[in-house]
Amino acid sequence: MELIDGNRIAASLIAELKAQVAALPGRPPCLALVRVGDDPASVSYVRKKEQTAAEIGVTSRILLPPATISQADLCRLIDDLNADPGVDGILIQSPLPKGFDEVAVFRRVAPEKDVDGFHTVNLGKVAQEDDTGFVACTPAGIMELLARSGVDLRGKHVVVLGRSLIVGKPVALLALQKRAGANGTVTVCHSATPDLPALTRLADVLIAAIGRPEFVTAEMVKPGAVVIDVGINRVPDPTRKTGYRLTGDVHFPSVSPRCSLITPVPGGVGPMTVAMLMKNTVKARLLSLSPAPAR
Ligand code: GUN
Repeated sequence: MELIDGNRIAASLIAELKAQVAALPGRPPCLALVRVGDDPASVSYVRKKEQTAAEIGVTSRILLPPATISQADLCRLIDDLNADPGVDGILIQSPLPKGFDEVAVFRRVAPEKDVDGFHTVNLGKVAQEDDTGFVACTPAGIMELLARSGVDLRGKHVVVLGRSLIVGKPVALLALQKRAGANGTVTVCHSATPDLPALTRLADVLIAAIGRPEFVTAEMVKPGAVVIDVGINRVPDPTRKTGYRLTGDVHFPSVSPRCSLITPVPGGVGPMTVAMLMKNTVKARLLSLSPAPAR
């Protein structure tokens, strides 16, 4: 078994982006980070995104409306960012507090500033294999991890566990694409799938994104499989100062000895998500300097 070191791979991407940003003409790229309320996980994710932006030379603008902001006022805030020529990318941290129509909020972001890739147009471009759009950061990060670990999906059975808009659906589309590194044969399964282990055991590459701590156990994994663990679950742990520990959707101690390659949590997919957000932000800046012709 070999670990896929997301920290190392993300660090090389970040170094590449830093050099690219330094060579850009005019002002640096600018990313607006919008966090509604103060969910503790979102606080730490947005802080990490801000730190990484600074490291690369991307300007960030942090907006922290209270959880009591109305959907209409949040939409107005997004409209202002859409209209601001000094802002290249906009990220609305998910999950939004209860009561918001999250998909409507994602759709409010101008597609050319949607560095999260959650807008209808950008998801559609993934389906159409149109490279002018933005691919959601976690799925893009998974593809980059696989590519940089020498895993080619052609001829492989990829099983995606989870069907979310943020990970499951877009990563399934990416793995299917007719392009180098992809061409996978893809099965998507989820919480309502009967006999999940029968399907996950068929996976040459298993992508676990079901959002349940340590859900994938050894008997669900084919020996020699590549396992990508997308889960970041906080489980109570009184022995830690923070009172919790992070665990993935995979039961690492039992599953890892069976795998050829596996991502750890933390230090696997998570750092890649942030790196791909920066890559998308630099792309947004480049596109604003020379817009892509319509296809
Ligand atoms: N929550 C979990 N992953 C993501 C992500 O990639 N982007 C945003 N905005 N929120 C998230």
